[in-house]
Amino acid sequence: MKNYKKTCLQVAIDSPAAAGAGTQAKLISKHYKLLYLDSGKIYRLLAYLKIKNPKKFNYAFVSEKMKALKMSDLQSKRLLSDDVGSVASVIAKDIKIRKLAHNFQMECAYNPSKKYKGSIIDGRDITYNIMPEADFKFFITASAKTRALRRYKELKGLNKKISLNEVLKNIKKRDKSDYNRKVSPLKRTKDQYLISSENESKRSCFLKIKKIIDKKLTLNGNIQ
Ligand code: C5P
Repeated sequence: MKNYKKTCLQVAIDSPAAAGAGTQAKLISKHYKLLYLDSGKIYRLLAYLKIKNPKKFNYAFVSEKMKALKMSDLQSKRLLSDDVGSVASVIAKDIKIRKLAHNFQMECAYNPSKKYKGSIIDGRDITYNIMPEADFKFFITASAKTRALRRYKELKGLNKKISLNEVLKNIKKRDKSDYNRKVSPLKRTKDQYLISSENESKRSCFLKIKKIIDKKLTLNGNIQ
């Protein structure tokens, strides 16, 4: 396995589904000129491929897809549905699949192209598994009800036919699976800053995070 050395700014975010981590990660990436990877999209892409090609889906197939993976493969709107998210959380329990998805995340975390000042990744195991030495680790959360309402509005915006109740049920099921699985579960650790997005606007949540980052960067004399 390749030996990765940290040479750039790293921001790691873990969060349960629909807590607003992706929105915050995008805002942070723009502000600090960081490469952004939504690691959940890797598991969503595999879930999508499994739904489309159930017979072809095996470790060799996943390995081939992961070797050829490009950031642009993760941008499709088709990956956003709740069905894809639910299958993703099942796939994500498989240690062999996680190992195959590891390299791409490590390349993003440790080798962002020169045009970036570093990288930011959000997911479930980023703060303690993918970027254990990250300069900043955040755990962003909100109640299941608030998260369900946000996801429901998002899905409605994409013209997906689903009820709020169904979205809430899916979120609770995914939480249970993501927190309780044996391999790389979602968890709180002492070195994460806890950010509640419950009663916060996107902007106020971003400003809270920015304050934490700026304070440490200024203390360390880093140029922003
Ligand atoms: O973040 P998102 O909700 O799109 O992730 C979809 C699923 O992928 C999650 O429910 C989780 O099971 C899985 N995932 C993971 N590890 C990550 C990111 C996502 O297991 N780092």
